[in-house]
Amino acid sequence: MSPATSHSPVWHPFTQHALEPVMKRIVRTEGAYLVDAQGNRILDAISSWWVITHGHRHPAIMQAIRDSSEAYDQIIFAEYTHEPAEALAAGLIDIAPTGLAHVFYSDSGSTCVEVALKMALGFFHNSGAPRRRVVVMEHGYHGDTIGTMSTGERGAFNAAYEPLLFGVDRLPFPTPGHEQDTLGAFETFCATGQVAALLVEPLVLGAGGMKMYPATVLAELKRIAERHQSLLIADEVMTGWGRTGTMFACEQAGIVPDILCTSKGLTGGALPLAATLCTAAIFDAHLSTDRRRTFFHSSSYTANPIACAAALANLEVWKNEPVAERINALSAMQEERLAPFRNNRHFADARRTGTIVALDLDVPAGGYLAEIGPRLRAFFRKRNLLIRPLGNVIYLMPPYCVTAEELDCVYSAIEEAAALAAVGSL
Ligand SMILES: Cc1ncc(COP(=O)(O)O)c(C=O)c1O
Repeated sequence: MSPATSHSPVWHPFTQHALEPVMKRIVRTEGAYLVDAQGNRILDAISSWWVITHGHRHPAIMQAIRDSSEAYDQIIFAEYTHEPAEALAAGLIDIAPTGLAHVFYSDSGSTCVEVALKMALGFFHNSGAPRRRVVVMEHGYHGDTIGTMSTGERGAFNAAYEPLLFGVDRLPFPTPGHEQDTLGAFETFCATGQVAALLVEPLVLGAGGMKMYPATVLAELKRIAERHQSLLIADEVMTGWGRTGTMFACEQAGIVPDILCTSKGLTGGALPLAATLCTAAIFDAHLSTDRRRTFFHSSSYTANPIACAAALANLEVWKNEPVAERINALSAMQEERLAPFRNNRHFADARRTGTIVALDLDVPAGGYLAEIGPRLRAFFRKRNLLIRPLGNVIYLMPPYCVTAEELDCVYSAIEEAAALAAVGSL
């Protein structure tokens, strides 16, 4: 039995327990930090898997959780509604790209994408002209349920489940100079008349390696979809809530997706909640006196009132605090520190979109399972930095409260790690 499993029955996500050391126990979170049982303060440079936006335990969000728990626990959402869900839906419609009119709640990034896929197929089914194909982008990641794995990149992480996965059509990633290949492939798929929807992460493909592409490509994909009456589903689970510099990444392309998926930063990262926003046309296609046209989806914890109250408080934080200014300042601080890495011979690429930065360590064998990944992680761990490279891709996605000094520490650790890796001493 490995040390990691000897003391705990807990099976951790994306964790090879045979290789990992015993998990550190976190006893408190605070701003940009996790505090462990020994009192070490660990800088959370990836916002605890991209969920924490303003910082851990934002006071207004925590207060809303305390207050709402005086009135609510879970309420069956197929039978009743409640103020936090109603107010939040109105608030989301308000801040989302204009044209999204309805909000369907769920509880994770994966489930809000599953909901989106079902909405898209349901739309065509109920319209009497079913379409069966879903188009996605190479290197995409949309979650770990069967449906979302089907739409994500195939590899070691889903090879065992292959028999359960459905087929999708894949666009090549729009690398610089090859954007037309992506657009041409989409046009060809759409020309079959069978494409229900394009499901895509706008501007940044997260788990696929923080791959970034320009807003002009996204805008053109939307135009092609419109020409063929196919839907565009924007998976903003990671990109939403300011990460790319705007509230939603779609704004930078000037597009209104037919369906928008949001989770992670929806509650500022404090509680699990997700929402799938859609146009009136999609809702109306399910509106009928014929009960067979109902949108048949639910989960027990749909629209948990306490999570909705946390999300409402998050909306207030965005209204009352200079969040956009913080995001601009963080983006500028990131750019300043990233710039020298663009000429650093240890890195094959260094890029940024908004607050998100990614650096590809130049190694002979890259990819998600690159053997350098765990060594980098162990190096950062020793320095009390929470950074989890995606193979050889070191990325940073800090909460918006991170300071210039904290970023300095992070970048000098990255520089040191790269230098050590280059001489085989990491
Ligand atoms: C773009 C995107 N979609 C969906 C998901 C799945 O979210 P969850 O892990 O909450 O199911 C993620 C998670 O990282 C994501 O980055």
